[in-house]
Amino acid sequence: MNNIKSFCCRYRKIKKSQKIIFNNFFNLYNINYQHKILNFENIFYNKLPIIIDIGFGIGNNIIDCVIKNMQYNFIGIEVYLPGIINCLKKIIVNKIKNLKLIYHDAYFVIKNMIPNCSIKLIQLYFPDPWPKLKHKKRRLLKKDFLKIIFLKLINKGLLYIITDSKDYKNNILSDIKDISNNNFFFIKSNQYNNSYSNFDSYLFNTKFFNKVKMQKKNIYHIEYQKIILNENF
Ligand SMILES: C[S@@+](CC[C@H](N)C(=O)[O-])C[C@H]1O[C@@H](n2cnc3c(N)ncnc32)[C@H](O)[C@@H]1O
Repeated sequence: MNNIKSFCCRYRKIKKSQKIIFNNFFNLYNINYQHKILNFENIFYNKLPIIIDIGFGIGNNIIDCVIKNMQYNFIGIEVYLPGIINCLKKIIVNKIKNLKLIYHDAYFVIKNMIPNCSIKLIQLYFPDPWPKLKHKKRRLLKKDFLKIIFLKLINKGLLYIITDSKDYKNNILSDIKDISNNNFFFIKSNQYNNSYSNFDSYLFNTKFFNKVKMQKKNIYHIEYQKIILNENF
């Protein structure tokens, strides 16, 4: 059981107009948190592969991804209400049908709602790095959550992370190495360097990407592929 939260509930006053959007439209795109495995066909009414974005922030990037990738269904998980509302606005304006939102802690959503071997890609753009030593325990991507994530990926499914924290990156890489077992293992499916010129083919319209780029900080891409070894798994 994970009792340490990877986020602080930042208080932001919600404007009346935001409340109206939330009250009128959230139900249409929301998947309620429940301790029960989801049936994606009942949600999307098709069998398209599923991509999950954890901590999509204000939602710019997930909206771009969704619009440019209609061949997938997307689930965005976020705990930041103004971000959820901003994303909701864009869903409505763009008449998006292949994206659902879950307003809850991603740890429990992934653990309790997502079927094993069901997800094509799980992506996290700039997960909160919690750089101070005393806060590191708050990081979301620790061994137990990484194990859960890999259970949920289909064979050849991908985990994609982008971060500007070298220490977080190194911890994730060493944890991933440790969790391979007799049933499945993970291969680094891609190598990137830190140069921004590589990014043209990717969609990185996230608030944090733009901030980090302005600060000319290094960023690190982590992309792993799950390979199932045991057919019965
Ligand atoms: C540093 S921000 C990055 C936002 C966005 N991906 C970007 O690149 O601009 C991290 C986001 O993760 C969200 N977050 C942190 N822990 C979470 C959790 N356990 N479940 C869902 N969202 C979480 C935060 O609310 C925040 O919006």
